Amino acid sequence: MARITASVYTSHVPAIGAAVDLGKSTEPYWQPLFAGYEPSKQWMKDNKPDVVFLVYNDHATAFSLELIPTFAIGCAAEFQPADEGWGPRPVPKVIGHPELAAHISQSVIQDDFDLTIVNKMDVDHGLTVPLSLMCGQPEAWPFKVIPFAVNVVQYPVPSGRRCFELGKAIRKAVESFDEDLNVQIWGTGGMTHQLQGPRAGLINRDWDNAWLDKLITDPAGCATTPHIDYVREAGSEGIELVMWLIARGAMADVKGGPTPTVKHRFYHVPASNTAVGHLILENN
Ligand code: DHB
Ligand code: FE
Repeated sequence: MARITASVYTSHVPAIGAAVDLGKSTEPYWQPLFAGYEPSKQWMKDNKPDVVFLVYNDHATAFSLELIPTFAIGCAAEFQPADEGWGPRPVPKVIGHPELAAHISQSVIQDDFDLTIVNKMDVDHGLTVPLSLMCGQPEAWPFKVIPFAVNVVQYPVPSGRRCFELGKAIRKAVESFDEDLNVQIWGTGGMTHQLQGPRAGLINRDWDNAWLDKLITDPAGCATTPHIDYVREAGSEGIELVMWLIARGAMADVKGGPTPTVKHRFYHVPASNTAVGHLILENN
């Protein structure tokens, strides 16, 4: 049986990817940020999964206003890093797990979540920056990845509650896969940031940390946070945080299992325009 052993949560700021790729991670601006991920890189080495189910958002790269899937699951054998305007990032291609992705699609769609099946797609900073933060600069990514794209770019976006329920369905799907696989689920994006308009640059440290506390100890309550709260308190792009609720909904305690252990928690302001939040939760 496949099982979800842990969840990882992290921001995905594109400038972090540029700092890695251009060798700037030890510069004074970036050093404190990357220092916060050193324990995570060690944890990744000690807890290497077979597959990461990576919840992220596409930023009008693979999709556009012409086609807006709310939830899209990557079922391809591989995914290339996207060209977001400066050429593709010099990072390894992403190797998928088509069999597990197809199984999860079958299970989750039959559980009444409408997923879009994607058999060809390039992946942008939303997916590759979390990989760089957690793995550094390897020749090849050390595990397979199922990309799971959520629309948090164009309204209407899915509610936190629906994302949380979807996480539960993903857990059920993984646990009914007939092969021994160690699967992690990652939720990415956030925390507070607003990239445009009069409030551009908004950071809300108190709100972020209260939300993190609630995500850990009261995920069902956290999932009821209304959209307007994200926009008002976390900025227009803070809505990316609903993706963290998919990962949290897939943890064991949500279905009556033991409370997860917080292996690492980190918060740093700023990275570009964003408050960076990071958590590692392990199932017991
Ligand atoms: C920034 C953050 C994001 O999450 C993103 O997708 C693009 C830009 C930023 O802070 O610059
Ligand atoms: Fe983003």
